[in-house]
Amino acid sequence: MELKKIGVVGCGLMGHGIVQVAAQAGFEVVVVETAQDFLDKGLGRIEKSLAKLAQKSVEKGKATAEDAEATRAAAWGRITGSLDRADLADCDLVAEAIIEDLEIKKQLFAELGKLCKPETILASNTSSFPVTEMAEASGRPERFVGLHFFNPVQLMRLVEVVRTDKTDADVFETARGFGKAVGKAPVACKDTPGFVVNRLLVPYMAQALLMLERGDATKEDIDAAMQFGCGYPMGPMTLTDYVGLDTTLAILEGWVEKHPDEPAFVIPQILRDKVAEGKLGRKTGEGFYKWDGDKKS
Ligand SMILES: NC(=O)c1ccc[n+]([C@@H]2O[C@H](COP(=O)([O-])OP(=O)(O)OC[C@H]3O[C@@H](n4cnc5c(N)ncnc54)[C@H](O)[C@@H]3O)[C@@H](O)[C@H]2O)c1
Repeated sequence: MELKKIGVVGCGLMGHGIVQVAAQAGFEVVVVETAQDFLDKGLGRIEKSLAKLAQKSVEKGKATAEDAEATRAAAWGRITGSLDRADLADCDLVAEAIIEDLEIKKQLFAELGKLCKPETILASNTSSFPVTEMAEASGRPERFVGLHFFNPVQLMRLVEVVRTDKTDADVFETARGFGKAVGKAPVACKDTPGFVVNRLLVPYMAQALLMLERGDATKEDIDAAMQFGCGYPMGPMTLTDYVGLDTTLAILEGWVEKHPDEPAFVIPQILRDKVAEGKLGRKTGEGFYKWDGDKKS
């Protein structure tokens, strides 16, 4: 199936990035938000980001000022913002990037399943919920995939393309092709908790917190070990502060509730305590470290 028009629901952190990379790849994109100010904020981010890219390509000698401006204007011109979901009806693929709330996502997909043309592929950017549940809610599970982009979408190469037991092979291949078309390296995964990356990463973060809790090593030494021993750009304690302690806890709680017998899914008490104290990581100025912008102590 050939994709021409892409719909995106939600123009927040992830949604605005998906809109931008799709428009840059030549797709016509319509993005739907719940309120004008959210839409303006998301579109404003895209406008700034496209302008910055144009400026950089001129500075690096990759394009003349005229060409860079034409590329920027063409990408920007492919994007339409809307507050009306009916504008998604004729899209070939609709990617959802709204808040991480399963009931709200299911409601949205039930509505999209009714209003979109029969061929439309529906996709969720969820990080932690079963794709199968949303696929069933949409009433068109055979035309449903997970398309899990990474933050910031403009820079991160990976997109996990998630298929359920009911996803049509053609739909899956089309979604994977979309990932490639927007410049990503798609990996295929079944509908399992956390897909590939978070299934490995979140339990690793939890194990690091358990080490701290037991007093095996300090947070600085745990971080240094993984940075210098494994070549990771940051250690697990710093990573947890970046991801957000509340987000990490919410993911683990969801998994433990659904899969109580999976030994990799454990919730360190230290994580619950920090969240209860409101120490949620970099975004609140303190998690395992104290934060002043990007500076930690
Ligand atoms: N933040 C990350 O690092 C990250 C990474 C991968 C995946 N995700 C997933 O992507 C999704 C979006 O996360 P985010 O970080 O961009 O959140 P965000 O809060 O930055 O953006 C969500 C946007 O969706 C809008 N919205 C909410 N309900 C809506 C509705 N019913 N219709 C239209 N718009 C609606 C909100 O106004 C907001 O602008 C979540 O499912 C999240 O789990 C997040």
